Amino acid sequence: MDKEILILHGPNLNLLGSREPSIYGSKKLTDINSKLVAIGKENNIGLDIFQSNSEAELIETLHKASVEGVKYLIINPAAFTHTSVALRDAIGAVKIPFIEVHLSNIHAREPFRKKSFFSDLADGVICGLGDFGYSMALLYAIDKLKSRN
Ligand code: DQA
Repeated sequence: MDKEILILHGPNLNLLGSREPSIYGSKKLTDINSKLVAIGKENNIGLDIFQSNSEAELIETLHKASVEGVKYLIINPAAFTHTSVALRDAIGAVKIPFIEVHLSNIHAREPFRKKSFFSDLADGVICGLGDFGYSMALLYAIDKLKSRN
């Protein structure tokens, strides 16, 4: 990872496009990622993007991000949002600032989705705005990094 911003997508997000489009929209993950890469290029900021269905792989990627100097994270932990103390601990340990993103409004769905193990550690949380939420999070992260330099 030689990029300043890392975008992490959690489990089942590889199925976007065909997965419950009335909830998650009809765009594929590759479409969402292309848009994010384009925003990065327009702003001269390099991005790494990684999706995994495995908690362990997401944790290992966070550890690597810390060693390799990633400066900002955007993460949609997907179902791990509501279950994973291990992924929360990893993000707390690496101390890289981050934004939590969800395509759907997790507060307007089943009660078990209201609990997030990440929100209290995040700089901010965006949910319910579909894939636009990722673009907004990325623009915020770019602004933060530019104002730091
Ligand atoms: C999600 C919401 C989660 O509750 C769910 O498990 C997901 C996707 C979202 O982007 O809306 O997989 O994070």
